[in-house]
Amino acid sequence: MNLVFLGPPGAGKGTLAAKAVDILGIPHISTGNIFRAAIAAGSPLGVKVKSILDSGKLVDDETTIGLVKERLAQADAQKGYILDGFPRTIPQAEALAAFSSVDKVVNFDIPDSGVLERLSGRRVCRSCGHNFHMVYDRPKKENICDYCGGEVYTRDDDREDAVRKRLEVYRAQTAPLIGYYRSKGLLLDVDARPAVEQVVENFRKAVQV
Ligand code: AP5
Repeated sequence: MNLVFLGPPGAGKGTLAAKAVDILGIPHISTGNIFRAAIAAGSPLGVKVKSILDSGKLVDDETTIGLVKERLAQADAQKGYILDGFPRTIPQAEALAAFSSVDKVVNFDIPDSGVLERLSGRRVCRSCGHNFHMVYDRPKKENICDYCGGEVYTRDDDREDAVRKRLEVYRAQTAPLIGYYRSKGLLLDVDARPAVEQVVENFRKAVQV
């Protein structure tokens, strides 16, 4: 199954994707994670995108489309994929349609107040990428990942000014994809406000898995 996860920053797309990998046995492909790994590695891509991510703006379509096209050509993505954070613009959606066929688009629905609460409490493992939350899912040991022992940190783009910018960018450039995919009959709305276990149930019901 080829799935796209759509929703505002902090809706819980990455958290749910980690659960959906176990349910569906297909890879989780997050453009945000790919960019952050490139930044951590200090690669040319990382050097190019660091200030863009830190500011909450979008990386240009050409760069992003190129790397997703390359990633979807890899062997593990032939049995299906969960695309998290891509497409984020109409040109990205049109490009995706030209090189892959999307089966369903899951729209994680949550108000701005929920986004702000989730992002202000988010902490992420630098090594395995697990998402923690200082209220809902605290690491057992301060700043240490429960799963791999890696360092748990606060993402640079979770600063208040960057979050505000990301929400603005989401409304202007990404929210139009809701209508785009609805008109194609691919959109499934999932209430992302409840606790993780309930969101998993909402997801299973919507996607029928
Ligand atoms: P990206 O990494 O994709 O960020 P995002 O879309 O803003 O999404 P987030 O990762 O912030 O949130 P999420 O929905 O995954 O929430 P999470 O599960 O972590 O992109 C980052 C940047 O990369 C962009 O700003 C842009 O610069 C660039 N980029 C990426 N893709 C691009 C593209 N296609 N084109 C151009 N540029 C691109 O959950 C958040 C918190 O809430 C966590 O602490 C979690 O533990 C907690 N939580 C989750 N679910 C629940 C729940 N149900 N109840 C309670 N807490 C919960």
